[in-house]
Amino acid sequence: MNDFDYLKKGDVYLDVACQSLRPRPVIDAINQYYTEHNSCGERVKYKWGVETDERVEATREKILKFLKLSPRKYTASFTLNTTYGINLILSQLEPKHFNKIITSEIEHNSPFLSSIAFAKRTGLPREVIEREVDGSIDISNLDFTNAVVVVNCASNFDGRKLGNLKELTKAVHKAGGIIIIDAAQAMAHSSDVLKGVEVDAICFSAHKLYAPSLGVIVWRDDLAKKMTVGFIGGGMVDDVDKDKYILSAEGKEHRYSRFEAGLQAWGEIVGLGAALDWLNKLPKTAWRNLDNNSRELYEFLSSSDKVHLINKEPNPTMSFYVEGLDSHLLGSALSRENIMARTGYFCAHYYLDHVCGYPPLMRFSLGLHNKPEDIEKVKKAMSKII
Ligand SMILES: Cc1ncc(COP(=O)(O)O)c(C=O)c1O
Repeated sequence: MNDFDYLKKGDVYLDVACQSLRPRPVIDAINQYYTEHNSCGERVKYKWGVETDERVEATREKILKFLKLSPRKYTASFTLNTTYGINLILSQLEPKHFNKIITSEIEHNSPFLSSIAFAKRTGLPREVIEREVDGSIDISNLDFTNAVVVVNCASNFDGRKLGNLKELTKAVHKAGGIIIIDAAQAMAHSSDVLKGVEVDAICFSAHKLYAPSLGVIVWRDDLAKKMTVGFIGGGMVDDVDKDKYILSAEGKEHRYSRFEAGLQAWGEIVGLGAALDWLNKLPKTAWRNLDNNSRELYEFLSSSDKVHLINKEPNPTMSFYVEGLDSHLLGSALSRENIMARTGYFCAHYYLDHVCGYPPLMRFSLGLHNKPEDIEKVKKAMSKII
């Protein structure tokens, strides 16, 4: 794909689960912002600001469209990353509306730790539930009465998906609870699980979606009723008196401002809009190529007796360890062949280390920039090293 033509020949980047590469149109859009309309959004009346406003507003609309959510019910607000988004919500929820917080064992530290912090702050109990092998949640024996549920929709070590998100959401809402989705991984290649499902909030990182470093919170308007604003600053108020203020978010037009204290990353927001355009225009062959590459590498790894794969099925994200070989050493050896992939527990320490007792792992996470030649190169290098 020409949109990644800046990659050096022979470099194989397999760390998309951390940050995807940015295609040329995204880099161009950011450059365009800095060179043609470098200005603050949502406050500025001169022409550069008007241009920025239009593009920022368009990005908000594109996000909701991508997720098939109605702008009548949902708002997209910008933050720093997924972690920041989840913390911003959990730290402002009023405990009086809830009985407990539920998360799952396969979570990234982002929801895992912030759910611990929520339980500590509120004094409410916290439950860590199991996930099925396929990533779904067995809701039959769970009590969601007034629960805050915060779970991922795709894992960051083997890509397993929350396939029954729709059922789960229904059950949580029926019991008076709310559900916050960590979509950090799902957005790039598993967003089908999420699209159109009316959860209370979705947090994701644009940097895992072929876009610049940026966080997004997509939230349902009635979530605001269960929150008290506790993180506040410029860009959030219509009026300020000595000891009080009027939140702009209380009006119809500036709801997004509820989570946007201070100046935002305008260039990055513009870049996210370009990334969504790029994704929407991608030919089906690009996705097929990603599937084929993932399957090819998965099958190669499965065929070795020495490789212990965590994945039960092919996915662009796959983790494993090689018997008798330290994963960090393996990562360094691959790096000497210009293959860039991650090692360790990928911020899922509780599950991978404490529940499963795995040694530190190696993770290959593939993206739309990868070519079949990359996979051949990895296979060759792995065969040589093992
Ligand atoms: C599933 C999942 N959740 C949350 C995060 C945190 O993302 P960020 O560091 O961008 O906040 C990650 C990052 O890898 C992730 O994979």
